[in-house]
Amino acid sequence: MATAPEGGKMRSLSDMLAESKVFSNVEVLSPHFTPKRLLYREREINSIERALAPSLKGERGRNLFIYGKTGTGKTSCVKYVIDEIKNIPNVRAKISFINCRIYNSRFRVLNKIISDHMPTYAKRGFGAVDLYEKLTSWIEEDNKILVAVLDEVDVVKDLDDLIYTLTRINSDIRAGGVTIIGISNKVSFKEELDPRSLSTLYETELVFAPYYATELYAILKDRANAAFRKDIIDDEIIHFVAALAAKEGGDARLSLKILTKAGEIADENDMSKVSMKEAQEAAKVAENEIVYDVVSTLPEHQKLVLYSVSLLTQSGGSYKKLTDGVDTYLFSGEVYNRYKSLTEGMKKEPKSERWYRKYLSELEMQGLIASFESGKGIRGHTKLIKLLYPSNKMCDVLEKEIFGNNESSLEKEVPVA
Ligand SMILES: Nc1ncnc2c1ncn2[C@@H]1O[C@H](COP(=O)(O)OP(=O)(O)O)[C@@H](O)[C@H]1O
Ligand SMILES: [Mg+2]
Repeated sequence: MATAPEGGKMRSLSDMLAESKVFSNVEVLSPHFTPKRLLYREREINSIERALAPSLKGERGRNLFIYGKTGTGKTSCVKYVIDEIKNIPNVRAKISFINCRIYNSRFRVLNKIISDHMPTYAKRGFGAVDLYEKLTSWIEEDNKILVAVLDEVDVVKDLDDLIYTLTRINSDIRAGGVTIIGISNKVSFKEELDPRSLSTLYETELVFAPYYATELYAILKDRANAAFRKDIIDDEIIHFVAALAAKEGGDARLSLKILTKAGEIADENDMSKVSMKEAQEAAKVAENEIVYDVVSTLPEHQKLVLYSVSLLTQSGGSYKKLTDGVDTYLFSGEVYNRYKSLTEGMKKEPKSERWYRKYLSELEMQGLIASFESGKGIRGHTKLIKLLYPSNKMCDVLEKEIFGNNESSLEKEVPVA
């Protein structure tokens, strides 16, 4: 942010430290900010409250599963209800909000719950069995109800084990218990789950629909009023951003990101108004950032398939590609071969072609690739694949994701009975 944008003039350090001409409170636009008002989500907030009501009275509630596309307000609504509960006196439930992107294994989730409620115990470096026993006896000692909110639950590596462990507590104890609220951005997540976890998690379901352009407009307007100085941003720009984000899947986060970027670009250029040009530029940047964020939550083998597509798209060398003048298409078969050799090179077992086809449709649903049937004539009848984002950037991101971190081996992964 400190660098001068192309064509913009260099800013001195004192310029940068000076008060922004554009923003009065940029924090309001940050994804971590929880707004006081959540528009158009009364019904959803009400359903979450209803699901939690028994737990608050000390009874085991039904588990709730919340899903819907990214940026439809799932996390915000749940956090909103948790904050409400904090203000109610004598609530029996103990709540843990767990961001599974950070706590992405059963061990980490258990450890997080323990550290939320028994901080001194959590630091002692116990294994999963000890954590399980500690948690169970803590719940049992005065019939507590633990509400475990698992946000972005689909990224937990051993999710079936985690769900099994948490529900196991309920059958191991006589009173008190655990209620699970699962949240996922993946609409098709159901299909990936083991039937037992599925029936546990999806006891009650709540779907968050994408926002319409008019709704996004109202959400943005609310935030823009608080974040920007007066007369910096015209309604026209907010309408434009809302319409764009509505077209891209009704994602409020994307719309806020575009608005923030547009303001930042104007700020860097010392402008006193955000124009359409900044908004358009911002849209491009924001959209890419969000895509790479999506990539980081893909399961390992989907990452490997996407990496194979990216590598082949980038190399353009020895493989056969089809070019229609503008676009590059890859044969599904050669992507699979590349994936296989890549996986074997990493001393991992490649998944079967059946799984591979599932991964392709998953990647397509996430909007990362497009696929077409070739029609007759090209190698009989085959599937053609096209990467929808720049291959060099995609390769960089995936390399970091696939080869970058290897911290999980430090954990004690002891099986729980
Ligand atoms: N109904 C709403 N009213 C106001 N802001 C919203 C609303 N829905 C979402 N947002 C904002 O959009 C962003 C994304 O929302 P979030 O709850 O993180 O979505 P999800 O968890 O579904 O991906 C957050 O910054 C949030 O404050
Ligand atoms: Mg979320």
